[in-house]
Amino acid sequence: MKVNNLITIDGISGAGKGTLAKSLALELNYSLLDSGNLYRLVGLIAKRLETNNSEEIAKELNSRKITMEFDNLKDLTEVFFGSERVTEDLRNEEVAMEASNFAKDSFIRNTLIKHQRDYFDSNKGLIADGRDMGTVIFPEARWKFFLIASIEERAKRRLRQLKEVGLEVKMPILIDNIKVRDEQDTNRDISPTVPAEDALTIDTSNLSAEGLKNKVLEIIKD
Ligand code: C5P
Repeated sequence: MKVNNLITIDGISGAGKGTLAKSLALELNYSLLDSGNLYRLVGLIAKRLETNNSEEIAKELNSRKITMEFDNLKDLTEVFFGSERVTEDLRNEEVAMEASNFAKDSFIRNTLIKHQRDYFDSNKGLIADGRDMGTVIFPEARWKFFLIASIEERAKRRLRQLKEVGLEVKMPILIDNIKVRDEQDTNRDISPTVPAEDALTIDTSNLSAEGLKNKVLEIIKD
């Protein structure tokens, strides 16, 4: 049976998932799951432990509580690993690439399933943002969106986001990074970034954040 107050937003990097997810969560007063943060945390742990061993990483991941809270005023999701605030440590290209590398690993993906499913509380409603929210984690969601956009537009948006947290990256490097991640995320064997059969695909290249939010709200209120 389909669950009405569960909305999944999947898609390629920089297509506008995060912005849409945040604005819908605020508008509908639903909780928000930014699942990319969990994969980024895996990347951060791998870097810190200097290991590629997924069992070692999963053990560390499960050793502390992971807390993610959307801060409306700061317009960002605060992430705590145990008592340590790792919000900014997750927001760089190196960690994003590590995340994408480990996202191919079935042991890591299986470890993260429960972390993600636990975010849904049927009394509250959830917006789940990621790559496999509609296909694997919440197949029962009534509303599924899959966002795409041109590579140029996505790179511009990513550059803006990185600047906001004080990071400078050259445009050609950013475009290359996005292409590598697209290729890895879309073509991996497990949970590839593809639309669920019952998802609606939206090209956001020429849509403002407000325009996209309104379009989605119209659909789900219909
Ligand atoms: O969305 P974000 O850029 O934070 O995600 C970082 C990486 O984590 C992605 O490139 C992807 O490889 C991985 N990811 C994933 N499945 C998700 C969320 C993120 O594979 N549900």
